[in-house]
Amino acid sequence: MTPKTFRIKSFGCQMNVYDGERMAELLAEQGMSAAADGDDADLVVLNTCHIREKAADKAYSDVGRLRREDGSKPLIALAGCVAQAEGAEARKRAPMIDIVVGPQAYHRLPDMVAQTTRGGRPVDIDMPAISKFDALPARRRASPSSFLSVQEGCDKFCTYCVVPYTRGAEISRPWQDVVDEARALVDAGAREIVLLGQNVNAWADGSRGLADLIRALAEYDSLERIRYTTSHPMDMGDDLIAAHGEIAKLMPYLHLPVQSGSNRILKAMNRSHSVESYLRTLEKMRAARPDIALSGDFIVGFPGETEEDFTQTLQIVDEVRYASAYSFKYSPRPGTPAATMEDQISREVMEERLERLHERIGQHQLAFNRSKVGMSTRVLVERKGRHQGQMIGRSPWLQSVHFETSAQPGDIVDVTLVSAGPQSMAGAEAERVAA
Ligand code: 5AD
Ligand code: SF4
Repeated sequence: MTPKTFRIKSFGCQMNVYDGERMAELLAEQGMSAAADGDDADLVVLNTCHIREKAADKAYSDVGRLRREDGSKPLIALAGCVAQAEGAEARKRAPMIDIVVGPQAYHRLPDMVAQTTRGGRPVDIDMPAISKFDALPARRRASPSSFLSVQEGCDKFCTYCVVPYTRGAEISRPWQDVVDEARALVDAGAREIVLLGQNVNAWADGSRGLADLIRALAEYDSLERIRYTTSHPMDMGDDLIAAHGEIAKLMPYLHLPVQSGSNRILKAMNRSHSVESYLRTLEKMRAARPDIALSGDFIVGFPGETEEDFTQTLQIVDEVRYASAYSFKYSPRPGTPAATMEDQISREVMEERLERLHERIGQHQLAFNRSKVGMSTRVLVERKGRHQGQMIGRSPWLQSVHFETSAQPGDIVDVTLVSAGPQSMAGAEAERVAA
């Protein structure tokens, strides 16, 4: 039976969220419709993440849960990075899976669905690089803040990371494709565009780099904000840093993962930067844009990490004073060099270090948020809040701000930040403050 309704569940990074949106558009173009919340769907796409073991396991436990009470099941497509990493093997672990489709092949999803109606159980994990973008329908819908993937894959081969294997070689989408898609998103109502790539700051088309792209997008009148993520410290060029001081629409926020504060561990991770070179980059960034909010990623318990190495990680957190940061326990991934390194760290040690790191990051997050209390700023409204009349949006520094307003998603509102928590800010709309 040809499915009429679908549901797409995306896990993991923003690039997966973007891919999920594009799959939804593709299926809608085929005449299918998204199942309403709580309703059963004929086709369920699990758009999975392979970055840590826990995320990958979740994919399989979610497949199991799709069995209906009457014993039937929807058509199940395993998509994303678990599909890429495991291919047909995935079906050995979860025989309920009908379709296996990798992140570079999902433009062929409608064909694969058609094959299942003829009794097929297709697997497609080809990596034809960039061709999926040519095969996808044009963008007609946008959120106030919309993602736009400008680059796929990664060539850095950090020793802990599966991304170079699951997403393939690093490839930048051509300039014209990106500006066309950005234009379509803006025409469909996007007020903010977040440019996405695994090493987005290495995006290039010929001699043009990310700073040039941002400059071009800043010319679009109704586009108010531009962000980009995730960046690699080695690709943080002077032109991009300078752009933060020159382009008002480029938001004062930079996510620049460092992973560890120990040069010894950075070397074992094959990170190709040192603590010192990382800090110099941030210094330049702060000189170009003094109010920049800095964010990062950390891994604790990488093989061989000593208490001294970990102390250096705490030190770099104090030195940078991150506005936000994400930290993870090291998870050995099949096929990566670090998985077979000696001196794997015990779970207890990892948990204890993660807790200390969380606490330290939390202190800086709260301090950053508190430093903004009393400030008037502009908030891009994104969605309804928990209480009647309350909306939630983002400050330029990517803080989540809740406040009472009659404004709607997509509006940009003058707000005074009135109080700070570790994860969010309360605001008051400008007129209310004056009244
Ligand atoms: N274990 C734990 N964390 C990882 N990350 C990437 N690979 C692993 C792994 N094997 C983290 C890094 C990266 C973020 C997206 O996920 O910090 O920046
Ligand atoms: Fe993974 Fe390193 Fe590439 Fe980031 S830069 S995706 S951590 S290999």
